[in-house]
Amino acid sequence: MTSAGTPAGGDAGDRPGGTAAARFDLTGRTALVTGAARGLGRAFAVALAGAGADLVLTDLPSADGLAETAAAVRESGRGVLTVEQDLSDTGALHGFADRVREQAGPIRVLVNNAGTAALERFNEITPDSWYRVMRVNLDAVFFLTQRVAEHMVADGLPGRIVNITSKNALVAEAGLAHYNASKAAVDLLTQTLAVELAPHGITVNSIAPGMVDTPIDGEFPFDREAFEAEYRRRIPLGRYARPEECTGALLLLAGDDGAYLTGTRIVVDGGVLADQMPRTAFMPPYRTSLGPQRKDGTTS
Ligand SMILES: NC(=O)c1ccc[n+]([C@@H]2O[C@H](COP(=O)([O-])OP(=O)(O)OC[C@H]3O[C@@H](n4cnc5c(N)ncnc54)[C@H](O)[C@@H]3O)[C@@H](O)[C@H]2O)c1
Repeated sequence: MTSAGTPAGGDAGDRPGGTAAARFDLTGRTALVTGAARGLGRAFAVALAGAGADLVLTDLPSADGLAETAAAVRESGRGVLTVEQDLSDTGALHGFADRVREQAGPIRVLVNNAGTAALERFNEITPDSWYRVMRVNLDAVFFLTQRVAEHMVADGLPGRIVNITSKNALVAEAGLAHYNASKAAVDLLTQTLAVELAPHGITVNSIAPGMVDTPIDGEFPFDREAFEAEYRRRIPLGRYARPEECTGALLLLAGDDGAYLTGTRIVVDGGVLADQMPRTAFMPPYRTSLGPQRKDGTTS
């Protein structure tokens, strides 16, 4: 018989209880973060290292920020291995996962973060562009996870898989048909793998950021400043997220306190999805019975 809190497949490495710091402690565990050269990937790697994890960092051979992320991880006193890999080379991903395991030992946390986007009208998306986005955002997540999960099962240790999707997995944004479709696919993949891997004590979840201040969109074929001003107006918290503001969700999902979270998503979007209509912009200032509103418009 399986006792409550000890799923079939074993949960032996989880350490529920204790102080909050202990429950988020990842000491002795190795995490693999894809797309770690910049942006969210760098923030995720640094946060995991801060919680005690050793890191394997990967990005494109042409990405020049990997060494900088590695240096930041080392500053936390954690071990770090960097392995360059083009994740769009789908056929190479099992071999890549095997090499990582040989060099770094068992991976306990996999963060499928690497992603790519291109702003293009639906009718102008070429097969090349469609498959480029799909290979990085969807195929790589599938085939890398396939092999890393196989290792996790063979190692018999609880594992954590966290897929970085987007609020665009849940609502559409024009000009990103391929991107939106890839993220929605990863969302359902997350649920499917959560169910298939649950008997092995491996959780699979996603984090769906809203707008984060990173270089991801690259080329912007229209007035970026005007677009971003309008976008900010539609974000209830009134601004883009800093990459570091998405890391709390990861630490929860990666640590012992996340043991019973699987097949779900954490949306980190400043309230965008909660707001069907940006009516607050047209409403009179917030009034309270306790005194005037703060001058900067905040309530905290
Ligand atoms: N920035 C946002 O507003 C935002 C919002 C929602 C979701 N996301 C998601 O967060 C993740 C990280 O995005 P970011 O904003 O940090 O973007 P970014 O462009 O700053 O970083 C993405 C990283 O992935 C790497 N990458 C791209 N193609 C690759 C490939 N073929 N092989 C290996 N590595 C590759 C890039 O070199 C880069 O270092 C992505 O999955 C993205 O879709 C970002």
